[in-house]
Amino acid sequence: MAKALADVTVVDTPAALAGEAAELFVRVAAGAVADRGRFMVALAGGSTPRGLYTRLAGEPFRSRVSWPHAWVFFGDERCVPPTDPESNFLMAHETLLARVPVPSGQIFRIRGEEPDTALAAAEYEGRLRTAFEPGPACFDLILLGMGLDGHVASLFPGAPVLEEKERLVAALETRAAVVPRRITLTLPVVNAARRVLFMIAGAEKARSVADALRNPASALPAARVRPAARGVVTWLLDREAASGLG
Ligand code: 6PG
Repeated sequence: MAKALADVTVVDTPAALAGEAAELFVRVAAGAVADRGRFMVALAGGSTPRGLYTRLAGEPFRSRVSWPHAWVFFGDERCVPPTDPESNFLMAHETLLARVPVPSGQIFRIRGEEPDTALAAAEYEGRLRTAFEPGPACFDLILLGMGLDGHVASLFPGAPVLEEKERLVAALETRAAVVPRRITLTLPVVNAARRVLFMIAGAEKARSVADALRNPASALPAARVRPAARGVVTWLLDREAASGLG
């Protein structure tokens, strides 16, 4: 497999991280629309991306993205209703999607409220594959955070789903999270992306960041994010999260 390019950028503060991420988001979106007529992006959940989404929803970034050409997916979802404070969709909707003109038919929400999580995962995979037809599911940009334990999306350390080779979306249950039932993109689709952007802040993540970036034998899910072919992984870190890199 071709070695993915790993670009590490360190900024001083979480606010600077949001600004840097917004600049990259705008750049990648413009390139995708110019080259392919649309911008296929998967949003991250959790709290770190809030800063980015808030910046993108305001000027100068709002008018620098061609939102009608954006197709918005989610890297993962907690299995809760979209009105639940734990919902990744709710967070992205409130901070960004309700404030920018992405056509509603181009926002692909994972149905976390569906009791049959395997069905919800299969449905999402179907919508994902259809959106990319006739080509493969190759996102222009996948946004990721990273947990203290090195998880990305809802791919937690040691989870069998990390070995998934065919499915693009999977449902799982984990004891490692407040909301145990999850639906997530799998590594095959993450590693098919043209660009992956990690946004990681805080000293508590420094150990996992250093392991993922410096330990060739790292088993952390974050270390498994290595887009094939010409994919680029950008690790956007604040100074605290980068403090273990020496
Ligand atoms: C989620 C995210 C998860 C998140 C990390 C980091 O659903 O929680 O997909 O992978 O990105 O847990 O979360 P913070 O950004 O809140 O630290």
